[in-house]
Amino acid sequence: MSTNTTVPVAATDTEAAGTDSALFRPTRLGALQLANRLVMAPMTRNRASAAGVPEPIMATYYAQRASAGLIIAEATTPNAVGATYPNIPAIHDDSHVAGWRRVTDAVRAAGGQMFLQLQHGGRVGHPETSGLHPLAPSPVPLPGTIVTPSGHRDNVVPREMTEQEIRTTVADFAAAARRAVDAGFAGVEVHAANGYLLHQFLSNHTNHRTDGYGGTVANRIRLTVEVVRAVVEAVGAERVGVRIAPGVTANAMAEDDVDDVYPALLSALDDLGPAYLHVVFADPDQPLFHTLRKAWSGTLIANPALPWPGPLPADGGRAAAERLLAAGADLVSLGRAFLANPDLVARLRTGAPLNPIRDAHLMYVGGETGYTDYPALG
Ligand SMILES: Cc1cc2nc3c(=O)[nH]c(=O)nc-3n(C[C@H](O)[C@H](O)[C@H](O)COP(=O)(O)O)c2cc1C
Repeated sequence: MSTNTTVPVAATDTEAAGTDSALFRPTRLGALQLANRLVMAPMTRNRASAAGVPEPIMATYYAQRASAGLIIAEATTPNAVGATYPNIPAIHDDSHVAGWRRVTDAVRAAGGQMFLQLQHGGRVGHPETSGLHPLAPSPVPLPGTIVTPSGHRDNVVPREMTEQEIRTTVADFAAAARRAVDAGFAGVEVHAANGYLLHQFLSNHTNHRTDGYGGTVANRIRLTVEVVRAVVEAVGAERVGVRIAPGVTANAMAEDDVDDVYPALLSALDDLGPAYLHVVFADPDQPLFHTLRKAWSGTLIANPALPWPGPLPADGGRAAAERLLAAGADLVSLGRAFLANPDLVARLRTGAPLNPIRDAHLMYVGGETGYTDYPALG
């Protein structure tokens, strides 16, 4: 994930860098006017307190990146049992709202706009982190170990959610969305990607249920649809986005029927009219991208399929971003390039060199180093 040299994006004159690219044209997202089409992708950085309260340093970090057309703040847990890793922010009590308010105030003062990603970990969690036994669609453990406050521990077998716990989870997402709006966010992104709870319900590898939430495609998409519907009812459709990762194997995910699950999911979600759909590792060379684009009538944010774990291409992902816009995406999200370049938009616009990612081992631990100390252009 790291590179060791400073890489020029293109020729240094702004014309060669293509300042008139569609990437830098303003656009609308629901009620929001966005200054450009570059979205900062949600990135977990583990800088909240042990109780999930955003620390002041997070306000500095996000305000530094306020020139993104939209920032989607990192995965944030809507209830205690959904916590994944140590020092993950939360949004289920007043202290969380107050902590996030500091962040959104700082970003607004710097001219930025923010959504908050809501993530329930499901089987990705540990009693030593949350104090609670993880809940999942079925008792299928995440293989291997997971980081906890006291180091790496073997994953536990999650307990199968009861239907009552499913109803509580849906209500928790809705309450968290209301709190996010109270904290000053323009909206929330429901995280149905990357192997966390909602994705676990979508896949027949992690969902072995025999009730109305398992088995058929219609049943496996049910929880995501119920969560999005509840969140839409709580804060309004224009304040809601949804992130999906069809076929992405993060957190040991496997999916056999991507071509059935995702068109069905999009059809159901489209009827609810959320502000956007956010697709992880979108690839315009794959038929799936075009299937999703056709199935989604609203705004599509595409996160390009850049080398993972890395290193990033020399242009930070700009060429891939432009290809996605040309293929029908409305906005493009970048993660690691924003992590290392607080002023990424200006650098991409002018062709200035990009900071390489350094201190990759500090991505997920506390402190300023590798977080707020990436330099902006003078
Ligand atoms: C440090 C780090 C933390 C991440 N945390 C999250 C997260 O909280 N939620 C999420 O949906 N994706 C998360 N991702 C994935 C990014 O949103 C993005 O999809 C990924 O980095 C690919 O984009 P990129 O190639 O531009 O970096 C994370 C990625 C990184 C590098």
